Amino acid sequence: MMQTEDKPTVQDTPLVPIEKIVSLCKRRGFVYPNSEIYGGVAGIYDFGPLGVELRNNIRRYWWWSMVQTHDNVVGIEGATITHPRVWEASGHVENFVDRLVDCKKCKRRFRIDHLPPENWENRKCPVCGGELTEPRTFNLLMETYLGVVEGERMKTYLRGEACQNIYLDYDNVLKSSRMQIPFGICQIGKAYRNEVTPGNFLFRQREFEQWDLQFFVHPSEMQRWFDYWKQFRFEWYTNLINHKDRIRLRAHASDELAHYAKQAFDVEYQTVLGWQEWEGIHWRQDWDLSRHSQYSGQDLSYTDPITKERYIPWIVETSGGVDRTFLYLLLDAYEEEPDPAGKESRTVLHLHPMLAPVKVAVLPLQKNKEELVTTARDIHKKLQRLMVSQYDDVAAIGRRYRRQDEIGTPYCVTVDFQTLEDQTVTVRERDSMAQIRLPIAELTMYLLERVTWK
Ligand code: GAP
Repeated sequence: MMQTEDKPTVQDTPLVPIEKIVSLCKRRGFVYPNSEIYGGVAGIYDFGPLGVELRNNIRRYWWWSMVQTHDNVVGIEGATITHPRVWEASGHVENFVDRLVDCKKCKRRFRIDHLPPENWENRKCPVCGGELTEPRTFNLLMETYLGVVEGERMKTYLRGEACQNIYLDYDNVLKSSRMQIPFGICQIGKAYRNEVTPGNFLFRQREFEQWDLQFFVHPSEMQRWFDYWKQFRFEWYTNLINHKDRIRLRAHASDELAHYAKQAFDVEYQTVLGWQEWEGIHWRQDWDLSRHSQYSGQDLSYTDPITKERYIPWIVETSGGVDRTFLYLLLDAYEEEPDPAGKESRTVLHLHPMLAPVKVAVLPLQKNKEELVTTARDIHKKLQRLMVSQYDDVAAIGRRYRRQDEIGTPYCVTVDFQTLEDQTVTVRERDSMAQIRLPIAELTMYLLERVTWK
């Protein structure tokens, strides 16, 4: 697990409206609506310069925690298009459906599993009280076609869940990497769903990214590994947030379980949308490897090298969303903080320093003093090789601090007239706004210790 002196601060702030994050993301270059000049596409987004940095940091930290620091876990990266039979074997062609009703009066559309039970029983719209239509069923898989000649093209699907590649590559990994059960395979990759009710910004999209671990075990060890990964993943998320009272683990009721799961827990986070899923921990048992053995005709059973016992491994899955993590971390970090001096409030992102898109900003006190500018540029150039650094000499120093607070930059380094005399700089910390003086020679180590994980 990550260690740092600069743990996020616990704050007692109200839940943040999603619109605040949408606006910040657009204004500061985290996230843009996809194809905006053509009017946009619901449920599809692009990531801007700061968004890519934050996303990459989140992904890298997950990979480090799950793959790099576990001897019994390896990674793959699969294609987003597979053979169409995969989705028959996985059960998605048959079971990956949403049931919808429309309100005859106000024309709103609802997923039945999102309706309050009394509204569904009485067929009554929860918004206007109008009558609801009979339910219709929609499959969420996105179709695509391979080949160019009409009539010979093969219909297949963009992957509806990223993890299927892991089952498809399981036997190759086993043979090529000398892994033995118990062991896990990780992957980060895009998934596509024709969500019938996309919305709430990055929360429910049609193209999104998932991170998965599929951990293969002997059936007698399933409970132990299920408990281990459930706890590990819950602590992993808890460690990244400021509001520790907004995260919980919740067991699925039997009528909520996905078609492949015998048991499931969700890591949930509380936002203005209520308590919602962040990651699912699923007891998939032998569903996947048995089904792929049956549909492909390839025997995917495992032979224990010592006992020679032959069996289909059982699977613990941990499956979360990169985009949902991105959104939840911003909602968790955002604060409009009143100025104690009563002048101007500041917007600040209390992001974990290791995930912050920009680690340090280097600021000459004045831009018309050549020696200040040259020294600041020199410091920035050296830091830039080791971490994301921004040089900024536009506007008064207070305004420049505020610009960095708003994007979550944990440290600002100011080069002033004293720097020219004694080779020290001011280092300002984002959350406390406390300032210390440090020799330039110690600056790199000081920052690296605080913005990298170990
Ligand atoms: N392989 C299991 C699986 O796909 P899931 O609960 O459907 O399980 C896992 O998805 C995670 O993917 C969710 O916890 C959520 O974080 C993310 N996710 C699912 N659908 C999403 C969507 N439409 N938009 C954004 N993220 C989504």
